[in-house]
Amino acid sequence: QYEKDLVGRKIIITAGPTIESIDPVRYLTNRSSGKMGYAIARVAAARGAEVTLISGKTNIKPPVNIKKFINITSAEDMYQAVVSNLDENDVVIKSAAVADYKPKEYSDKKIKKKDGDLVIELDRNKDIAYEIGKIKKDKILVGFAAETNDIIENAKGKIAKKNMDFIVANNLKESGAGFGTDTNVVSIIEKDGSMKKYPMMTKEEVASVILDKIKVLLDEKSSL
Ligand code: PMT
Repeated sequence: QYEKDLVGRKIIITAGPTIESIDPVRYLTNRSSGKMGYAIARVAAARGAEVTLISGKTNIKPPVNIKKFINITSAEDMYQAVVSNLDENDVVIKSAAVADYKPKEYSDKKIKKKDGDLVIELDRNKDIAYEIGKIKKDKILVGFAAETNDIIENAKGKIAKKNMDFIVANNLKESGAGFGTDTNVVSIIEKDGSMKKYPMMTKEEVASVILDKIKVLLDEKSSL
């Protein structure tokens, strides 16, 4: 039922959680189901875009009409996949929930229970959006922000730091927003700091709003 208004547009979408292994039986991850990113992939493909979906582990079947599906585990894998596909794409939408930290050391043997507490030291992961923001040139980079406090101020900071074209902030404190749900409540923040809050929508409807904005930016760029 979608108009094919993104034909010829090449879009990378990241979705789902990353997994950071501690030992062969344990890992660190987060609550992302992949629903938001997969909804964007489905709608973008239905509108004619060539979609590369780079996804962490989810329970969702990849859409059939996308160009490429890349399954990844860790934040480092996701970084490599985004960078190696960047050249041939015009847009990157970072809807994945990427772990900011990973265990400093992976133990190839199961860590044994011992008396007292266990401390696991964590190292920072690369910030994929930040790295892409540095090298993207005229490509479009759209980020998400998942925060519980000072959403707008934090989102503004992220746009500037990561050189994003706009950012979609989940209003995590509202019901029907964020992780795991079929709906989302978002505010979109522009480079100039202006902000629009949307009512609760399905994740497909949120995807359409995001893709409409991307289409305007792409059309502006191609008319230059
Ligand atoms: O998957 P669902 O269950 O449908 O839930 C959707 C969602 C809440 C996961 C999604 O809408 C969302 O907000 N994704 C981004 C979550 C996140 O990691 O937010 P952040 O504020 O930590 O990061 C900001 C931006 O930087 C994000 O675009 C993120 O992809 C990116 N990032 C963060 C850390 C990192 N190491 N590399 C990154 O690229």
